[in-house]
Amino acid sequence: MTQTLLGGLSPTRFLRDYWHKRPLLIRNAVPDFSGLLTPDAMRQLAMREDVESRLIQGEGRHWQFDHGPFRKSDFKRLPKHEWTLLVQSLNHVLPEADALLARFNFIPHARLDDLMVSYAVPGGSVGPHFDSYDVFLLQGQGHRRWQISTQTDLTILDDVPLRILRHFKPEEEWLLGPGDMLYLPPHVAHYGIAEDACMTYSIGFRAPTTHELAQGFLMHLQDSVTLEGRYADPDLRLQAHPGEIGRAMLRQIEAMIARIQWSKRDIAEFTGCYLSEPKPNVFFDPPEAPVSFAAFNKRAGKTGVTLNPKSRLLFIGSRFFINGEAFDSTADETAALQQLADHHQLAAVPATLRERFYEWYEAGWLEIAPS
Ligand code: SIN
Ligand code: CO
Repeated sequence: MTQTLLGGLSPTRFLRDYWHKRPLLIRNAVPDFSGLLTPDAMRQLAMREDVESRLIQGEGRHWQFDHGPFRKSDFKRLPKHEWTLLVQSLNHVLPEADALLARFNFIPHARLDDLMVSYAVPGGSVGPHFDSYDVFLLQGQGHRRWQISTQTDLTILDDVPLRILRHFKPEEEWLLGPGDMLYLPPHVAHYGIAEDACMTYSIGFRAPTTHELAQGFLMHLQDSVTLEGRYADPDLRLQAHPGEIGRAMLRQIEAMIARIQWSKRDIAEFTGCYLSEPKPNVFFDPPEAPVSFAAFNKRAGKTGVTLNPKSRLLFIGSRFFINGEAFDSTADETAALQQLADHHQLAAVPATLRERFYEWYEAGWLEIAPS
């Protein structure tokens, strides 16, 4: 199945020759794909408080950008041409979208961001731009003309509410229909214009900047580093200016700060917690009428459990990270937890994990698999 998705390439070859390196057009990547939801269902999602949505109107140098949630009347006012509605994290609210993401399992989950869907009327587009992330653009219903460019001039227009390239010079162009897919590595300029009313599914990846990682790590260190000692100056000399911070004081403070150290374990712990942390706008919905532990035990024992699509479960060996929290697994739990992390479902729940899973169930992180 992955071979079809990648146009006959094995995941190994795709990773070696294309991933993060060069674009790839795959005709009929998902055979018989006509999309996951109707434009009307998408409008309903864009009216929800808990769903991130945007509306982009315009063309050339004139753009308007609005954030959801929208009202019905906002959609009624729209013209017949040149607008796009975007809904982020479709995989959080639509099981079919989560299942589509599972096809991209040849990329580590820690790199995955979300599935975004766009609905555009004829001429609709978000303008020529580039992204800092890898993306697979899978065409649902309708047709979209994609132009791409490997240009190095990535200057963007001033005074527009979107990141639009000032000088877009297309090098290649394709018309994508249902089931066709275009893979783009970061920084390849692209411009997708709807030929007719069309929907595009973007499987997007995340790549934190060095600055974001460093900031996160410094915050993590704050809780894990404790250093002994206190500033001391038995050899203090009289200063001409009592208001001055002297060189000896600076030297001593530099030496104190230089004692901050970290191990590979700190890096692993930080990485697991950081990458498993859901985005700040993600909220879990605990079950309205949770079943008792005994009932959970019985039902989960029979049908197994599934991870809620908003949960992020990652691991490093037998150290597991879920939604920013870390724990160790015992030898007889590791294989089951790894299975849940890899495939987001687990048929047989080891007895020792049931209590932990019940807590996750009460928090809305995990569900009993349907029978
Ligand atoms: C779209 O679906 O209209 C935009 C996707 C993208 O260019 O990243
Ligand atoms: Co883009």
